[in-house]
Amino acid sequence: MEPHPRDPGRTAWALPCLLLLALPGVDAQAGQDFALQQPQAKVTVTAGDNLTLICTTSGAAGPGPVMWLKGLGSGNKTVYDPNNRDPSSRVTEAVRESNTNFTIHIRNVQPEDMGTYYCVKFVKNAFGADEFFRHGSGTEVTVQAKPSTPLVSGPEQRARPNDSVPFTCTTGGFFPDKIDVKWFKNSNPMTAKPPQVTQTRMKTYNMSSTVQVTLQKDDARSQITCEVSHPTLQAPLQGRFELRRVLRVPPSIEVRAEPNPAEVNKTVAFTCLLKEFYPDKVSISWLENGIEIKGQNLSRPLEVSRGLFELRSRVEVQATEEKNGSTITCRVVHDGQAPANDSAVLWISNPTLGGLSNEFQINKDDMLIYIVVGVVCTVLALLVAAILYLIRTKQIKAGKSSPSARLHEPEKSSEATTQESDPNNLTYADLNFDKERKSIQRMVEMSQQSEYACIQSNQAPNGDDNLTYADLDMVHLSKAPKRPAPRPEEAGSEYASVQITRK
Ligand SMILES: *[C@@H]1O[C@H](CO)[C@@H](O)[C@H](O)[C@H]1NC(C)=O
Ligand SMILES: *[C@@H]1O[C@H](CO)[C@@H](O)[C@H](O)[C@H]1NC(C)=O
Ligand SMILES: *[C@@H]1O[C@H](CO)[C@@H](O)[C@H](O)[C@H]1NC(C)=O
Ligand SMILES: *[C@@H]1O[C@H](CO)[C@@H](O)[C@H](O)[C@H]1NC(C)=O
Ligand SMILES: *[C@@H]1O[C@H](CO)[C@@H](O)[C@H](O)[C@H]1NC(C)=O
Ligand SMILES: *[C@@H]1O[C@H](CO)[C@@H](O)[C@H](O)[C@H]1NC(C)=O
Repeated sequence: MEPHPRDPGRTAWALPCLLLLALPGVDAQAGQDFALQQPQAKVTVTAGDNLTLICTTSGAAGPGPVMWLKGLGSGNKTVYDPNNRDPSSRVTEAVRESNTNFTIHIRNVQPEDMGTYYCVKFVKNAFGADEFFRHGSGTEVTVQAKPSTPLVSGPEQRARPNDSVPFTCTTGGFFPDKIDVKWFKNSNPMTAKPPQVTQTRMKTYNMSSTVQVTLQKDDARSQITCEVSHPTLQAPLQGRFELRRVLRVPPSIEVRAEPNPAEVNKTVAFTCLLKEFYPDKVSISWLENGIEIKGQNLSRPLEVSRGLFELRSRVEVQATEEKNGSTITCRVVHDGQAPANDSAVLWISNPTLGGLSNEFQINKDDMLIYIVVGVVCTVLALLVAAILYLIRTKQIKAGKSSPSARLHEPEKSSEATTQESDPNNLTYADLNFDKERKSIQRMVEMSQQSEYACIQSNQAPNGDDNLTYADLDMVHLSKAPKRPAPRPEEAGSEYASVQITRK
């Protein structure tokens, strides 16, 4: 009928009995030989595993529970209280209803469970409250935690070849803090700064390591690896990153026209060749002098060497004459980037110079022959020209075919002293025109319209030898009322009569 010390229900009626037992002599004796044994000084457990903490007692002590506390003094935490069991707790007693074995199990140990665990004996005081009596030597529990799977993160935006971009490897929740990180590009080791290790609130550690990678054009199939080694791991953990996730290789753009120059009204095919780009997100548009035209794709983006893509697009243009010199542009928008372009000009060969374009393609050996033939022909042509010139000059000298103009003075006679009264005292220009020239016909017609050159001079002739002449290039022809045409001197000769008033 001994009241069970662990049963709170029975303590109430058993109180007088306990008071009876709690005589000073008995109490002192019971307390003297009572001891708590914690055989485990240090325990290391891996996170997630179960832990057993052993505690046994020897000797007699007053009634009161044996509890498990984590830490002593201020900041202690009750781990196990037999009078306040929590069914959801990870902590359970190993042996039920024992008076000497107070061993406990802790399920699924977590890093935050780390600390020193004490097995503590409480006794009832005079008021029935549990009072600290004695504690065991304590068991130091270390929870080894494996690092989480490493995560490699890259830049937010894609980068071009030759850009140096940072990659970061993170892992966390590990204990102890001793950790080793290695970086590889494909299988080649890379050098990185030592990792940064920080402690978290859960007493575990986090690690961050950064490496700079200079991207290359052929990295579309490359990957970088972060390899983490930790004492808790049998084999290192790896985190990977495919470089194609951050690589952008802009295409090279080339427009070709075939044939160029083209014959009029023939079809010219313009091909836009996009080479070595990544990713394959690309759109092509065609412009003719800046105005969009319909294109036709020859292929879908094709994966060629080293994971890069290639694409051809084609447009056909009718080589009408008015399209000569038109600019055909292939505009490419790659992966949301600013448009890039290349152009070709449509040339239409001149039909009359059709052979000329071919002649440009002759090789150097043929060129020499052409030059020799050209020089000989030129010399011959010059000779012929010289001979023709000589013949011509001789003809000119023989026949006075050049037109001339001459003013005729009045007849020089010693008797003619009174010039004013002389009706024949006229100065007139004798105009000789080339009879073969077509302008003669026009001149005759004009004479019917009675146009005259009139030269007036107030100056008296200085001497008999003086000749008054009209420079007909400078004569101002004015229309005058119709006058009787002067009498022709000679049949077939045409002349203009110029009147000069004399004193
Ligand atoms: C545990 O902590 C409480 C206060 O937080 C304190 O009153 C008590 O004495 C401590 N117990 C032990 C055994 O240190
Ligand atoms: C530590 O790492 C874990 C997972 O790796 C993460 O959830 C946590 O936020 C990190 N804590 C700190 C303080 O960096
Ligand atoms: C080219 O085509 C246009 C209209 O189709 C036509 O008027 C023109 O005569 C053609 N030119 C040649 C050289 O065939
Ligand atoms: C040609 O292919 C590109 C990319 O696949 C696409 O953006 C474009 O619309 C296609 N053009 C035609 C005419 O099919
Ligand atoms: C082609 O690209 C150049 C710059 O490289 C730009 O100045 C020009 O406007 C572009 N042409 C077209 C038709 O988009
Ligand atoms: C097209 O233009 C080029 C250069 O201006 C010229 O040489 C060629 O004769 C032109 N073709 C036609 C058919 O006018």
